[in-house]
Amino acid sequence: MIERQESSAEVYERLKIDLRKSIPESVVPDFELKYKAELVSQIMELKRQKNAVILGHNYMEPVLFHTVPDFKGDSLELSKRAAETNADIIVFCGVHFMAETAKILNPSKKVLIPSLDAGCSLAEGIKPANLVWLREKYPHLPIVSYINTTADVKALTDVCCTSGNVNQVIAWAKKYFNVPSVIFLPDKYMAGNVANDLSMDLYFPTQDSVKSEAEVTEKPTIIGWNARCYVHEQYTPQLIEDVRKDYPGAVILAHPECPPNVIAKSDFSGSTSAMTKWVTENGANKKIALLTECSMADNIVTTHPELNENLIRMCNIRCKFMHAITLEQTLDALKFDQYEVNIPKSIRRPAEVAVRRMMAIS
Ligand code: 13P
Ligand code: SF4
Repeated sequence: MIERQESSAEVYERLKIDLRKSIPESVVPDFELKYKAELVSQIMELKRQKNAVILGHNYMEPVLFHTVPDFKGDSLELSKRAAETNADIIVFCGVHFMAETAKILNPSKKVLIPSLDAGCSLAEGIKPANLVWLREKYPHLPIVSYINTTADVKALTDVCCTSGNVNQVIAWAKKYFNVPSVIFLPDKYMAGNVANDLSMDLYFPTQDSVKSEAEVTEKPTIIGWNARCYVHEQYTPQLIEDVRKDYPGAVILAHPECPPNVIAKSDFSGSTSAMTKWVTENGANKKIALLTECSMADNIVTTHPELNENLIRMCNIRCKFMHAITLEQTLDALKFDQYEVNIPKSIRRPAEVAVRRMMAIS
C-alpha cells in the first residue's frame, strides 16, 4: 500500500492538536508552528522518496521529536533499531557517536548526521592512545566502554555499554573474563555510580601514579577515566536541596551521568528512556524534577499533557550538542545527503564486535 503524504496544512493541524496541549500559543506563536509544519512535510516527503529512516534521541526538541523520527529512544534502543533497519539511508537525529554506532552496525548503508557540531564532551574525553596505555598497564582486565565514545575508541574495547545496561555489562565482563576488576571508561561519574551499585572499589590511574594490576585486583575494582558529561556534571546536591525546599515532596530522577553525590540524594536513576517510563507510569499527583537535558520534560508532556504541571523545568542546563540538530538541518541532510559518517574498515570491524557483544548481553 502506498502511504499518502501529509500536506504541510495537515501537519500543521496535527501539530496544533498534539503540541498545543503542552505548548500554548502564548509561548509559541502559530506562525512558528506553520513554519515547522512546512519543514516536517518536506522531510517526510524526502524520507519516503529516498527510503530513509530517521532515528531520534529522547533529547531532540519537541517538534522534531514528535514529528519526523520513525523510532525514538535512548542510546540502547536506537542502536537496536539501527541494527534492524531495511532503509537505504539512516538519518540520525542525535549526536555523532550515535550515528557512528549506526554505521558500525550498517556498513553498507548511508548514515547521515544533520550537523557536524553534534559532538559529546564524554566522547571527546578519551582517545585511543589512552586505551593503549590502560591495556599496557592492565593486560588481563577487560575494557568496557560507554557507548558515548568514538569508533576508534570502541575498536580497542572488549564490550560497550549504555546507561541502560551498564551494571549488567560490567557484571557480565567480570564473569566472562573471570576477573574481579574491570576498566570502565570514559565517564568518571558513571564509574562511581556503577562501583556503588555493584559494591566495587573505584580507582583512577594517572600518568604520575599507577597501581599495579596485582593491586587493583586485590578487591573488585572499577578502574575509571576522568571524562565528564558537561551537562550532567552541573547538577549538585545543593540544587536537589533547593528543589526539595521549593517543592516539598518532589521526586528527583537523575541520569547516571550525574555525580555520585547527586545520585545518592535522588529517588531514581536510569537511562533517558527509563526516566520517561518512570514518569509516565508513576508521575500522577507528584512534582518531579528530571536531572537531565530539559527537552525530556517537554517531550513527555506532549504525549502526557496531564503531567505538564507535575514536571519541574530547570532549562538553564541544556546539551548544546543535541540542540545542534534542527528540523532545517534534518531537511538539508536528506536534500544533500549530508553529513555522511564513514569509518575505516580496520576500525569498524573490531568496534562492531564490542557493540554486538553488548547487544547480545542486553
Ligand atoms: P541515554 O542512553 O540514557 O539516552 O543517554 C545518552 C546521553 O548522551 C545522555 O546524556
Ligand atoms: Fe554528551 Fe552529555 Fe550531551 Fe549526552 S548530554 S550528548 S553525554 S554532552
